[in-house]
Amino acid sequence: MEFERVGVVGSGIMASGIAEVAAGSGATVVLRARNAASAADLGARLDESLARALERGKRTAEEAAALRARITTTTELGDLAHCDLVIESVVEDLEVKLDLFRALGRVAAEGAVLATGTSTLPVIDLAMQVPHPERVLGIHFFNPAPQMSLVEVVRPLSVDEAVVARAIAFVRECGKEPIEVKDQAGFIVNALLFPYLNNAVRLLERGVATKEGIDAAMKGGCGFPMGPFALLDLVGLDTSIAILEALYAEYGDPNYSPEPLLRRMVSAGRLGRKSGSGFYPYR
Ligand SMILES: NC(=O)c1ccc[n+]([C@@H]2O[C@H](COP(=O)([O-])OP(=O)(O)OC[C@H]3O[C@@H](n4cnc5c(N)ncnc54)[C@H](O)[C@@H]3O)[C@@H](O)[C@H]2O)c1
Repeated sequence: MEFERVGVVGSGIMASGIAEVAAGSGATVVLRARNAASAADLGARLDESLARALERGKRTAEEAAALRARITTTTELGDLAHCDLVIESVVEDLEVKLDLFRALGRVAAEGAVLATGTSTLPVIDLAMQVPHPERVLGIHFFNPAPQMSLVEVVRPLSVDEAVVARAIAFVRECGKEPIEVKDQAGFIVNALLFPYLNNAVRLLERGVATKEGIDAAMKGGCGFPMGPFALLDLVGLDTSIAILEALYAEYGDPNYSPEPLLRRMVSAGRLGRKSGSGFYPYR
């Protein structure tokens, strides 16, 4: 096994999915939330996800129980000191991630690999916060992590080749398909996906069609499994704005400039599935 002890930092939709996938590789996983309530939510979300995997016949009851037993939650960053890989999956905010990397640089084990799950932010900026930037890279899972096969392995200028090779081996052990990509905003998928999602919001704002009509058109006309508004709700509208802003800052392309409606919806607390409503209701 490439990494025997994996730490995951965060308590959002991605963190629990990454913990489940990493535990599926056979690793023991320490999942760190900022407070006890979020840690309890994480545990409940893991149980739900594993129950769904059982229902769908993806795992046996024994496999699910063994996997769950390999994951513990904590509120202490110091509990990650024995991990040989730490993957951060906190909010898509550069300042928050920079602070977290500085802290990880202090607590992580000598020789540990540190990874970010960022969708768009510069991995090199995070790498430069720690004593060994050559051991930092991006491991970008997709949502929902247990179901999506792709993982982008992001190579900042500072990374050591051996670290990239280990990350690729780990991704394969997780049952995923690694694709290597340069450290540029949006990597492959989000650089291509987000102009499309943003332009769907633009069409809606212009009254070209209803959201239901646009979603049905992209499913029926392009064979996409879900339309742009259902996908924005799944990603989270706050996270989508953060992704668009990082893309816009990097490339200055107006297609990446977040549409006003997205901002208004976030101000209204309509973040998508995670808040119970977005373009569609979820309660
Ligand atoms: N949502 C997606 O579809 C998706 C897909 C792939 C990657 N990502 C990336 O994964 C990461 C997490 O995204 P998510 O969708 O799980 O987010 P989320 O909104 O579900 O959760 C954000 C997490 O960040 C934590 N957080 C908020 N402020 C913080 C702070 N000041 N300090 C420390 N932690 C803080 C929250 O407690 C929460 O655990 C982001 O980098 C995002 O770009 C998201």
